[in-house]
Amino acid sequence: MLDDKSEKLNKGLKIPSDDDAFEWSPALRALPVPGIRRMVNLAATMKDVIHLSIGQPDFKCPGHIVEAHVEALRAGETGYTMDAGLPELLTELQKYYQKRTGRELTEDNILVTTGATEAMYLAISVSAAPGRQFLIPDPCFPLYAPLVRMHGGEVKPIPTRAEHGHQLDPQEVIDAMGPRTFAIILNSPSNPTGTVYPPETIEAIVQEAAYQGIKVISDEVYDHLILDDLEYASVLGHTSDLDHVMIASSFSKSYAMPGLRVGWVISSQGTIKMLRRYHMFTTTVANTPAQWAGVAALRGGNQCIEEMVTEYRRRRDRVVKLVSETPYLTGYWPQGGFFIFPSLPAHTNGSNLALRMLEEIGVCVVPGEAFGESCINSFRISYSTSMDKIEQAFERMIPWMAKQEL
Ligand SMILES: Cc1ncc(COP(=O)(O)O)c(C=O)c1O
Repeated sequence: MLDDKSEKLNKGLKIPSDDDAFEWSPALRALPVPGIRRMVNLAATMKDVIHLSIGQPDFKCPGHIVEAHVEALRAGETGYTMDAGLPELLTELQKYYQKRTGRELTEDNILVTTGATEAMYLAISVSAAPGRQFLIPDPCFPLYAPLVRMHGGEVKPIPTRAEHGHQLDPQEVIDAMGPRTFAIILNSPSNPTGTVYPPETIEAIVQEAAYQGIKVISDEVYDHLILDDLEYASVLGHTSDLDHVMIASSFSKSYAMPGLRVGWVISSQGTIKMLRRYHMFTTTVANTPAQWAGVAALRGGNQCIEEMVTEYRRRRDRVVKLVSETPYLTGYWPQGGFFIFPSLPAHTNGSNLALRMLEEIGVCVVPGEAFGESCINSFRISYSTSMDKIEQAFERMIPWMAKQEL
């Protein structure tokens, strides 16, 4: 007679061992241990660290938005909204995008989510599957590739270089499209590079993708943080139909309210229906009073954004100059967001250098490896911090870098 253990093995049931008390989903293997964690943990144990590593606005959320949030709570707006989002917010978003991009939209083209993170999570979850390849610029925001892999999809990185301002060459993207390519993920302005793709790049990629039946998923969270006098090219303004595109964005960066967690996806009505189904099984609805804060943000005009952009621009100008004065760093002119991603000489291990920089002079940046495979010899500098801190950081960095032998 089989003992209990053999019986279970024969039935294919795994016997838990002491160190295997909980079996994690294999999908979790696709999620990397964040490269930045080692740095942040170390920084937390140190005194006098200057952070050039911050990924959220250092400005306060504008007063009228905070007031609307508090007012919504006081007015008892604490229940669920419709799963697609608060009707008033859907209407404001529809009007706003129609005016900004000239595209006819209805409220049914929009789904309100818990930040752009959920928007991208939904967009990737409804489309990634085994056998489907996603083209993703490298470096890029570390959310996309793991989510594609978690759903069994394949990632094909499209490397970009500091020497070319991290611009995407549309021909390179088109050449990379093949029979297995299912979607392309774009993010302009980009985190970590601050690169803004010109309308010609967006147009060429979106049109070729539509021609080949490839989807374009566009993360546009930094769309308002454009630091030069140029037209922002949203995928929404360059697509002939909504069937092949999903545009994700949020209030987090433009209105300095990342903790309020309100974002959205825009697509065809059919795609939005599919996303809504998934949304019901993830977060159900976005935070209700925060959606009212979003209504106030859209009704309140862009003056508050312009003030922030003016300050980001002042810092960007200074940071670009300081990077150019720093030995071994190759910079460029980032036109959006609040990041620059300079490179070090080829074959330099940017992670080791960043770690030593933190240990020896207390300046914390984010190593390039956190953002992809092709930029190990880089690090991300965020200028979402005061000009004073920026000056102090480079006063430490410039002489320290001069002593390195790279
Ligand atoms: C490119 C990019 N997409 C999405 C997000 C997440 O945005 P949200 O706070 O709206 O979820 C971030 C946040 O850093 C980001 O940099």
